[in-house]
Amino acid sequence: MQPKLIIHGGAGRSLKSKGGVELVRRSLYQVLEQVYPMLMAGAAAQAAVVQGCQLLEDDPRFNAGTGSVLQCDGQIRMSAALMDGTAQRFSGVINVSRVQHPIQLALALQTSPDRVLSEVGAAELLRELELPPYNPMTEIRLQEWLRERQENFTHEMAGVVVEQELVEDTAGRGTIGVVALDSEGRLAVGTSTGGKGFERIGRVSDAAMPAGTYALPSAAVSCTGIGEDIINECLAAKVVVRVVDGLSLTAAFERSLQEAHQNQRDLGAIGLSATGAIAWGKTSEVLLAAYHTGDRLGDTLEWQTGELVGSVAA
Ligand code: GLY
Repeated sequence: MQPKLIIHGGAGRSLKSKGGVELVRRSLYQVLEQVYPMLMAGAAAQAAVVQGCQLLEDDPRFNAGTGSVLQCDGQIRMSAALMDGTAQRFSGVINVSRVQHPIQLALALQTSPDRVLSEVGAAELLRELELPPYNPMTEIRLQEWLRERQENFTHEMAGVVVEQELVEDTAGRGTIGVVALDSEGRLAVGTSTGGKGFERIGRVSDAAMPAGTYALPSAAVSCTGIGEDIINECLAAKVVVRVVDGLSLTAAFERSLQEAHQNQRDLGAIGLSATGAIAWGKTSEVLLAAYHTGDRLGDTLEWQTGELVGSVAA
């Protein structure tokens, strides 16, 4: 089977500059170019997803791992989830601090009887795995928080990506996600986020819920956007279950994104089907996604057709 790969680096308002678009495109394509060969060499979808998430977590441009946004108290708390479509197994961590790759914790929990851990439990797992303490804070995100504090946290969310060296008023919805279909026809999905930015302590992201990350043998979806909106739509699980019930991936995206649009949600999503279809959708202005079909790379960075959904047939 021809492997497929789609990744995202968030959704939100338009990138301010053409230069910003090119930088984000370069970041996303670099990940595709490193992860797709793994799939071609026979790697399992889950391994490709974990590797892709780690690369995106390491890129300070995106709001996950290094470069995560700060919460209202100036701390970083990250969430991540992994779902293996073949095993139909979900695992994740909620509001974990001081780790370089939150997705690594989600991976470790795949084989644990307790598969979603929050705060203290996630910190304890970190200690058990002997992962070194890591500070994911970047200067640019700190400056963004300091500026917001002066304005008493009036913005709903932090910037979706760091554009060049600017911290501008790019209210957005950052998260990263990876969906892979391997040569054996297996699907997996991972999502990782620093959250909305400036949120109150204890707020829980959609990323480590089936609303934001979901996979079954027939389809897999990762979401980005305002977590509360994604949870209200239960978007990832909804799209996947619609495919199980007989809709094509594109039709499942279209129906679900239409509902989200009617409900005035602010979100985006990417997905793959086991037949090799690729789809994406957004109600926000932009979706920062890129994909590898096996023949070519493509992206959604300048996709402003007014359509809610785009796709590449199997
Ligand atoms: N979708 C990321 C968040 O709202 O936490």
